[in-house]
Amino acid sequence: MKGYNVVKIMFSEEQIEQKVAELGEKISQDYKGQRLIMVGILKGCFVFMSDLCRQIHGVDVRTFFMQASSYGASTNTGGNVRIVQDLEIDISGENVLIVEDILDSGHTLSYIRRLLADRGAKSVKICTIFSKPARRKVNIDADYVGYEIPDEFVVGYGLDVAEQYRNLPYLGVVKEV
Ligand code: IMP
Ligand code: MG
Repeated sequence: MKGYNVVKIMFSEEQIEQKVAELGEKISQDYKGQRLIMVGILKGCFVFMSDLCRQIHGVDVRTFFMQASSYGASTNTGGNVRIVQDLEIDISGENVLIVEDILDSGHTLSYIRRLLADRGAKSVKICTIFSKPARRKVNIDADYVGYEIPDEFVVGYGLDVAEQYRNLPYLGVVKEV
């Protein structure tokens, strides 16, 4: 049977933990005393979201989730984004922070950012723990980026290959075997 093996560790659990604390600190400063609607993009965000929201202090945080799916193969994202699960709140006038596992082609986040801005949010920013700038297909940057990484397929810390390896506490590189 064909499968995927983790062949290398890109960032350790400790490195990621340190980076998430830094991101939480920045976000805490930027939204100090304000209300912040955190919107995690499922499923990949679930580990990062839970760590990040606990590193934000002095901000009135509310957490929500959306699920997007892009029509296409497992390791390649097409431009066709579909909302599988939408928000259950009105975000007009709110500060929104989209929380994502990885910014790759940018199709998913540019679609979701536009969607949420069109609903009248006061501000819409993006926080991603990983970003692969070399893979960008649309012009989009995140406001908060943990690590910029090379064009390798990575798993762990919420990221999967065919639903496997989301539970790894570190970020690893996979190869098909
Ligand atoms: P984009 O729309 O191309 O930016 O794709 C973003 C989504 O593709 C992410 O939320 C991930 O689910 C998935 N993705 C992109 N690169 C990787 C990777 O290296 N490992 C696991 N998932 C990835
Ligand atoms: Mg995925």
